[in-house]
Amino acid sequence: MGLNFWVPLLAFGSTLITEAKNTLLVCESSTFTLPDIAGLNILSITAEPKRNQSLHFGLPLYLDLSGLNYCDVKVQVCYPNSNDNVLVQIWLPLNLKDWNGCLQAAGGGGAATGLFDSEYAAVSTNGGYFCTQDDMALLIGLGKSVVEQFFGKAAHHSYYNGCSQGDRQGYALAQKYSDLLDGVNGKCPSIGFLDVAMGPYWPQLVMKEESI
Ligand SMILES: *[C@@H]1O[C@H](CO)[C@@H](O)[C@H](O)[C@H]1NC(C)=O
Repeated sequence: MGLNFWVPLLAFGSTLITEAKNTLLVCESSTFTLPDIAGLNILSITAEPKRNQSLHFGLPLYLDLSGLNYCDVKVQVCYPNSNDNVLVQIWLPLNLKDWNGCLQAAGGGGAATGLFDSEYAAVSTNGGYFCTQDDMALLIGLGKSVVEQFFGKAAHHSYYNGCSQGDRQGYALAQKYSDLLDGVNGKCPSIGFLDVAMGPYWPQLVMKEESI
């Protein structure tokens, strides 16, 4: 495709960006209708605006965040034929100008399922009793639907971020659901479980043998 095609397209795109400035979005439970996601029973959606919020993680890799204004969407779901009750939480920038147009699915690490990030529309979950990558795929689908309902347009890219167990699920998502995400931040997957489990014992063995 030649440059002549792209120039008007870019001009059109920048008009949209200008119009996107300072558009406060309506954050109420009635903004949303229950999405229809095969494999999930969606029980309720509530939404509440949160302003000037701060987040302190107390972890070296996670920056403290402050001045966050977001629509706090809580979706209660359950997997059919299970007694589970899962909370999916989706944070959406309240002002369109603060949204980078992307969705980030926040996978977790270990047995915890998620953490949030700024600028993105972010979806995370408490996982319920048991959250496999297949469940995670459904919950990301749910997050995409909520994002589209709120902003009136779909996220142009969707990413997944997790570490350890959460990142292993990211790799599994990329393999099993290749159309679901545009990228997985696959920086620290816990893939070789045998090595991961045995690794911490090695220093103990050395210290025992050396009588340290
Ligand atoms: C936002 O919160 C901070 C404390 O985190 C406070 O110092 C500041 O005054 C607040 N700003 C507004 C506009 O309420």
